[in-house]
Amino acid sequence: MPTVPVRLAAAGYDVTVEPGALDLLGSLAAALPGVGRRCAVVTDSNVGPLFLGRATRALAAAGFEPAAVTVPAGEASKSLDEAGRCCVELSRLGIDRKSFLVALGGGVVGDLAGFVAAIHLRGIPFIQVPTTVVAQVDSAVGGKTGVNTAAGKNLAGAFHQPVAVAADPLTLATLPAREYNEGFAEVIKHAAIRDPAMLDGLAAAAARADPAALAPLLARNVAIKAAIVAADERETTGTRALLNFGHTLGHAIEAEAGYGNLLHGEAISLGLRAALWLSERRAGLDPAFSRRVLAALAAFDLPLVLGPEFDAHRLLARAGADKKFEGGQIRFVLLRAPGDAFVARDLSPADLAAALAELRAAPEPP
Ligand SMILES: NC(=O)c1ccc[n+]([C@@H]2O[C@H](COP(=O)([O-])OP(=O)(O)OC[C@H]3O[C@@H](n4cnc5c(N)ncnc54)[C@H](O)[C@@H]3O)[C@@H](O)[C@H]2O)c1
Ligand SMILES: [Zn+2]
Repeated sequence: MPTVPVRLAAAGYDVTVEPGALDLLGSLAAALPGVGRRCAVVTDSNVGPLFLGRATRALAAAGFEPAAVTVPAGEASKSLDEAGRCCVELSRLGIDRKSFLVALGGGVVGDLAGFVAAIHLRGIPFIQVPTTVVAQVDSAVGGKTGVNTAAGKNLAGAFHQPVAVAADPLTLATLPAREYNEGFAEVIKHAAIRDPAMLDGLAAAAARADPAALAPLLARNVAIKAAIVAADERETTGTRALLNFGHTLGHAIEAEAGYGNLLHGEAISLGLRAALWLSERRAGLDPAFSRRVLAALAAFDLPLVLGPEFDAHRLLARAGADKKFEGGQIRFVLLRAPGDAFVARDLSPADLAAALAELRAAPEPP
């Protein structure tokens, strides 16, 4: 099986990236030490009808007794209320300390089910079975779990690493085009900060010709995320901050648009363009590399121009309230060169304003 190891101080795990990995769920679970037969698959109302049957059949064939918990599809399910309902349901279903959960779905299900696994009976193991591009290249790896609160996104949660991850590229075939494309904003981000050669192999992925052929690309992204997480498991050394490339202004744009109006990856596409422009001016990045990255974003129909409905002052205020600003200093990830990212601390609000102004017009054609 093609696996990518995630090497952590305590318990590492393997990410299996393979066409048909969904059907291997039973054998992956059977290889886990000390788990009982009872388990529960947590999924959402879109993913359940597509893949729940296969997931439970794979588990049952390996001798497990899977129950299922289905939450409504959508970001609103990442809530303390929904997590509480899941815990009650798990107790009713007899999920005990020897049981494990399976998170079957996109990042919403992964974050929610991971959080429920962290708190149910003070923590039980869980397996991630990511079914979106975002989840396969990003959220299923790294152990950040959590929910949103009335005060903001991802404000309650826990570090709780999965015991295994099974990413099946064939599940991506049913993703709507917008959800598919937005995931590639994170792929292109990974390319920019760690693996620029990855940009050359994206044309087939943009064409969506053969989901099975995505496996090596997905595995490469998992390896990048895994290496960064291994270097900074709990976000204390600063390495993990490099994953925020494009995210300082991207998050501000996403929030200002109103969550759900611009998808995360669409907002990050704009944030990446701003970060590249600042990297050219403040860190000496070759503009030819920026043009390559922008062409890659455009190939996935990701936006590159900030509409007039966005007010620059409001965006800057949002960015100022962002957790990436530490003690009044702007921490902003820049590129010195392709694949060489660092956290700059000397950017001013005027720099960010200039980058936003740049986003108002279409970029020069490559
Ligand atoms: N934990 C982390 O490190 C991390 C990293 C990035 C993002 N996230 C979180 O992930 C969430 C976003 O994840 P997402 O983009 O996967 O969204 P999502 O889970 O909402 O999935 C997007 C949509 O696609 C549907 N769907 C999922 N798989 C499908 C499939 N194979 N076929 C058809 N439809 C399918 C879902 O039901 C949903 O409607 C956010 O809450 C974000 O905060 C977490
Ligand atoms: Zn992101």
